[in-house]
Amino acid sequence: IPVDPFDLVIFGGTGDLARRKILPGLYRRFLSGQMPEDARIIGAARSDHDDTEFRAMVGNAINEFVDRDKQEKATIAAFLERLSYIKVDARGEEGWKELAGKMRKGVVHAFYFSVGPSLFGDIAERLHAYGMADAESRIVVEKPFGHDLKTAQALNATLAKHFDEHQIYRIDHYLGKETVQNLMAVRFGNMLFEPLWNAQNVDHIQITVAETVGVGGRGGYYDKSGAMRDMVQNHMMQLLCLIAMEPPYAFEPDAVRDEKLKVIRALDPVDPDDIVRGQYCEDEDGPSYFDDVENPDSRTESFIALKTHISNWRWKGTPFYLRTGKRMRARTSEIAIVFKDPPHSIFGEQERQKANVLVIRLQPNEGINLRVTIKEPGPGGMRLVEVPLDMSFKEALGPEAEDIPDAYERLIMDVIRGNQTLFMRGDEVEAAWAWTDPLIDGWTDRGDRPKSYDPGSSGPEDALMLMHKDGRRWREVKA
Ligand code: BG6
Repeated sequence: IPVDPFDLVIFGGTGDLARRKILPGLYRRFLSGQMPEDARIIGAARSDHDDTEFRAMVGNAINEFVDRDKQEKATIAAFLERLSYIKVDARGEEGWKELAGKMRKGVVHAFYFSVGPSLFGDIAERLHAYGMADAESRIVVEKPFGHDLKTAQALNATLAKHFDEHQIYRIDHYLGKETVQNLMAVRFGNMLFEPLWNAQNVDHIQITVAETVGVGGRGGYYDKSGAMRDMVQNHMMQLLCLIAMEPPYAFEPDAVRDEKLKVIRALDPVDPDDIVRGQYCEDEDGPSYFDDVENPDSRTESFIALKTHISNWRWKGTPFYLRTGKRMRARTSEIAIVFKDPPHSIFGEQERQKANVLVIRLQPNEGINLRVTIKEPGPGGMRLVEVPLDMSFKEALGPEAEDIPDAYERLIMDVIRGNQTLFMRGDEVEAAWAWTDPLIDGWTDRGDRPKSYDPGSSGPEDALMLMHKDGRRWREVKA
């Protein structure tokens, strides 16, 4: 179904995110017929370009970042037709009048701030000054949304000067991932799981987001952030919320976001002994973290593992273990719900059944895997064995699953539709920082140094100990 006609302005329209994600994503939506005939996309940045040059740049980006079989010449040409470019100075007055003159009446106006947060205020201010911050317009902002609670509050206040909360779309691209949305479908679309989804039945929950890439190329940004700010405060926090939240009364923006907020507010502070941070060493495939960020003294983590608890009726007593890192063994993201052991074995002590584990795999090979116990085949008596009930979305859904939109595509279309369900609300972001800040302050004040780990491993040894000391184990990081 096509969305309403729109004018979408991308500030930072020639930047990396626009080239890699936003514009190729818009092209794919155009290809699938979801973009109305009169949709228009305006690139805005401070460099000198004309429409032709901008279109050529976007054409190249499509060649580079869209699958070959989706590159149809005529469709690309028709898509590029909708593009134009304006040179705009975010901190000055150049270009703004012209931009305002380009915006058509009676269509959705969306402004994508694909620029550093230091420009958010200037852009919002000028959108207002030039009459573009009307009640119908929407702005889209990217992470990092603040560096800590104070800066996030300041950003929220800046945006709130000219835009209402219902006009502000804070992107966390994890929420645009098909399988992340599937978390909610699995939990609230089935009867099977929800009655067991609590501390009485769940022993613990593990969330792993492992990456094989290092931070090379983004060292400047990354060394000021680290895994806690880059991944845990946002993406992993969102996963945790979707796993732990109460059923919202409807799949509607504030219903869902209210429930997520309650989870964040119920998070316990983390004991310093339950946090392990790491930095990768060098190997034949790449430099060490220190070399990547060009800071031999850096104490910023490229890996973090921690244990936290949620103090509410549903989860009191069930630990949540989170872990994420760069240059690990495999690129894999998964959530494992590890259930408790059955209370009694009727098959004798030697046939202890192992706990059921439900694994929701976000990437790669998105799917769901449930470990169950069955009888080992054969005449040897009642011997038990564990087997996986395995479902990959690709196999189960066939060609439909082949055409899953990228996270950004989905989210940009939601902006045009005016649906904020998969975007973070201001109070949610602030609550996440309020939980994160003391942990970061703690290790900064103590002067803790991250432990080193081998690239291609599953992180520092201490991260394994984090679970071993509780008599538990991480699932293996494997592709
Ligand atoms: C980004 C982080 O938000 O998410 C990156 O800044 C990280 O450091 C990326 O690599 C991971 O996203 P994905 O979609 O590749 O899992």
